[in-house]
Amino acid sequence: MPQSPPATRHQPPANSQSITIFDTTLRDGEQSPGCSMSIDEKMEVARALVELGVDVIEAGFPIASPGDFEAVRRIARTYGEQTTICGLARCRVDDIDRAWDALKDAQDVRVHVFLATSAIHREHKLKMAKEEILRRSVEMVKYTADKMAARPDITTPNVEFSPEDAARTELDFLCEVVEKTIEAGATTVNIPDTVGYATPNHFFNVIKTLKEKVSNIDRAVISTHCHNDLGLAVANSLACVEAGARQIECTINGLGERAGNAALEELVMALRTRHDYYGIDTNINTERLFPTSRLVSSITGMKVQRNKAIVGQNAFAHEAGIHQHGMLQNSSTYEIMRPQDVGFVGTNLVLGKHSGRHAFRDRVVQLGYTLDEEIFQKVFDDFIALADKKKDVYDSDIAALVEQRAHQAPATWTMTTFHAFGGTGTIPTATIALTHEDGHTSQDASTGDGPVDAAFHCLERIVGIDATLREYNVRSVSSGKDAMGEVTVEIDCQGRTYHGKGLSTDIIEASALAYLQALNKSLASNGREPHAAKGV
Ligand code: KIV
Ligand code: ZN
Repeated sequence: MPQSPPATRHQPPANSQSITIFDTTLRDGEQSPGCSMSIDEKMEVARALVELGVDVIEAGFPIASPGDFEAVRRIARTYGEQTTICGLARCRVDDIDRAWDALKDAQDVRVHVFLATSAIHREHKLKMAKEEILRRSVEMVKYTADKMAARPDITTPNVEFSPEDAARTELDFLCEVVEKTIEAGATTVNIPDTVGYATPNHFFNVIKTLKEKVSNIDRAVISTHCHNDLGLAVANSLACVEAGARQIECTINGLGERAGNAALEELVMALRTRHDYYGIDTNINTERLFPTSRLVSSITGMKVQRNKAIVGQNAFAHEAGIHQHGMLQNSSTYEIMRPQDVGFVGTNLVLGKHSGRHAFRDRVVQLGYTLDEEIFQKVFDDFIALADKKKDVYDSDIAALVEQRAHQAPATWTMTTFHAFGGTGTIPTATIALTHEDGHTSQDASTGDGPVDAAFHCLERIVGIDATLREYNVRSVSSGKDAMGEVTVEIDCQGRTYHGKGLSTDIIEASALAYLQALNKSLASNGREPHAAKGV
């Protein structure tokens, strides 16, 4: 039977209220295929999230692998005074112990425990009856709270509980689990739409029912965690906010398994732009949205679609003449947000080789980057080399150069010489020399269907890895025939996905650099455990 919209759907609060922005880019986002990050990369994203002003960073799932544990530990120690750092655990003693070990030395920390509650998960995944789910959830929340309370400075342990697949859980049972876990010590109850099944009115009603039927609901913050399988993650999260949720779980660029999680930038800008409607404030420094989005995209290799809301390249572009006319008269005719409010630098000042260090530094800062002196010098050298090859250097060129240098993970192999040729009536060939991090050099030559194929074969032979190319994209970073080409690749190696990006005014060389980066990532992750399967 179709659901009728609830009568009480919109009741704007009389006074502004605040909401907790819980970012899970480093946990749920990182679980997305091909998006795994090294510890240093996670530290960099964590720093950006702190600058952005998120209230909680879910830094990882410590039991999943030693790398996840170390990342949570380092992030908690470094940023635990500026924001709350959270670690995920299943409802198992060893998971919770591991999460707490990663967090315990940091100041402001939270443990997030979860157990699936829906019939489908109970029967097919967990093979547990309702009573057992309830008992286990309560026991493990209590275990977590007691463990945290043993630290002398913790008076109220910060424990979050998630009934996984809540959107498909019987409402009565959901209410019972939520009530009992709050009683056991959960201070945040997170209601996940794990498979992206909910619709806005449906999820509004779930939160409303929890508020009405759970007797102790005022003792916990209601949170929501929506996946985007039907493209409704942001709409569902906002509906939950209307119903009274005061924490939203989300990721930068909507990164996450399958179709992703609710996009942080969309939620935050919806709440800000429609403050008249929601009456909700966040602590987010919205001018950091665009740079943070670019950083996450650059580190994970997951591109942001051009027309993506808030952070897509076209998000503020007005093409139609009638729009442009209106915009010239008054920008509010067609613009509901100002590009600068999300940190989008609209101007495209041109720099050249005579612009100088000072002008270049100013531009880098304006584009939202904070670089240490060593990296800045390298980027500046790259800029001079590029300005020698092409007359005009645009913002997008500078952004590409910065990202290439700033997020360069230490590589096992670097390319020292590269030569490739192709053409009608010849056999496409590539000759490449690589230097290993231990100092030795190795070179080889290969043929292929074309020079790119030849280069990829050659790299595989030197590195000693067989990979399957899943995706290959080339784009021009700026305009003009002399523009740099940026190549992104996705490869598959022993069942795992890796991304690589290469930049050069020669797109064959850019292709080889991208492929080499992906192969290096696969070498670096050798021995790293895949994420632990969700379950008890
Ligand atoms: O989607 C989900 O249910 C989760 C939980 C661990 C909160 O990610
Ligand atoms: Zn999730």
